[in-house]
Amino acid sequence: MTVDSGQPKNNLYFPDDFLFGTATAAYQTEGAVSEDGRGISIWDTFCLKPGKTYRGDNGDIACDSYHRIDEDLDLLNNLNLNAYRFSLAWPRILPNGTGSINQKGIDHYNRLIDGLLERGIAPAATIYHWDLPQALEDKGGWLNRDTAQYLADYAAICADVFGDRVDRFVTINEPQIVAKLGYRVGIHAPGVADPIKGGIATHHVMLAHGLATQAIKASKNGSVPVGITVDLTDVVSLDPKSDEEGIQIDREVNGLYLEPVLLGKYPEINQIEMLPPDHVILGNDMEITSTEIDFIGINYYQPHIIRPLGNREIRFDEYEYYGHPTIVGVKPPEMPLTDMGWLVDAGGLERVLKKVDSMTKKPIYITENGCAVSDYVDPTGAIHDNERISYLQDHLVACWRSINQGINLKGYYHWSLLDNFEWAAGYSKRFGIVYVDFLTQKRIPKDSALFYSEVAKSKMITVNPPK
Ligand code: NOJ
Repeated sequence: MTVDSGQPKNNLYFPDDFLFGTATAAYQTEGAVSEDGRGISIWDTFCLKPGKTYRGDNGDIACDSYHRIDEDLDLLNNLNLNAYRFSLAWPRILPNGTGSINQKGIDHYNRLIDGLLERGIAPAATIYHWDLPQALEDKGGWLNRDTAQYLADYAAICADVFGDRVDRFVTINEPQIVAKLGYRVGIHAPGVADPIKGGIATHHVMLAHGLATQAIKASKNGSVPVGITVDLTDVVSLDPKSDEEGIQIDREVNGLYLEPVLLGKYPEINQIEMLPPDHVILGNDMEITSTEIDFIGINYYQPHIIRPLGNREIRFDEYEYYGHPTIVGVKPPEMPLTDMGWLVDAGGLERVLKKVDSMTKKPIYITENGCAVSDYVDPTGAIHDNERISYLQDHLVACWRSINQGINLKGYYHWSLLDNFEWAAGYSKRFGIVYVDFLTQKRIPKDSALFYSEVAKSKMITVNPPK
């Protein structure tokens, strides 16, 4: 493996087998929600509730990707990308969550997977990216322990029908967001705002991951690599007085989802309402959550910076930190912010990778990283998203540096290929390297797509030489 092949110092070479991809998710891109036998998901229901999403936006049409497979595959191909991460819609495959299989749903993903393979693009399939079938929500959703087994049964079907061709399966995307935003805070579907229920959902989701991993390994395509995607952040304390709190926050936002998978336990968290209540952790559950995986996926977007509140007032660039009245979150004015208001810090990615590497030597993939920019088409028809290029460049350099330090990082998937339905923020935020005109569904590669395409083609990134 050659990482730096002796070229001038400002050309950073990635290993030959490094994957450069993009990521998407079914509900955010597919549309066609009532077609070909797809069942209803909790996001279809949630979007109908007044005030839950920006302007009442929903995924009914989204990027219409369901009907534009070939166009989008060609787009990926033209951009020289060698990997693509997408999600399988549970309600397309099992409209009621369990029971009879919808062949048209299977056919759709077969077309997508085969189309990727024909173009030499490695498919990574996420089994659960938040679109729980409504029929299962009606039975209690993630508060019902049975949902974990239902997910495993669905994962077994995915493994049987797609496992001979996908490069990897990700069981669950971002368990933290499923539990925290869906059940603790309630700003995502199904919209429950109850801390205790957040803890219960957390455990059931982690259990589902373990059971799904076992189900895939027991399937007829049991050798296909399986892992999970966790969203991680770098917690930075600006003052020694907030260091202890920083450790606690790190456990709450990172450890709570990493440790059950890698260490077979939940971390010690002072604020016990963050933890799953004891009565939901049964028998050998923690052995199940820590079933051996083949890789770990990391979604990294931003760091969390904190300082003690002390007797100072909360400034305009600070915010109350959920569950921690003695500290505040800080957005230092000198640091860039994305259109989501998220801090930009590629150093955080390096630190997160280091931390995960200290816990496991399994291959690591950055399964998502990206930024929202208020992109627009200029009069010449171009989209000059320089902020995204610089975000991408800095985070790719962080990847390269991590590989050079011996971290087993095997691939990077930019979020996202296309502008798409950004959950509660609807279509108000654009994350794509390809612009989508939602009136016409026209796709226009942004400058960042051209930049990324060059990187993927040359497997090399150029940085300014030190002065
Ligand atoms: C993570 C999620 O997996 C994805 O669905 C979302 O759109 C991006 N973050 C950006 O918020």
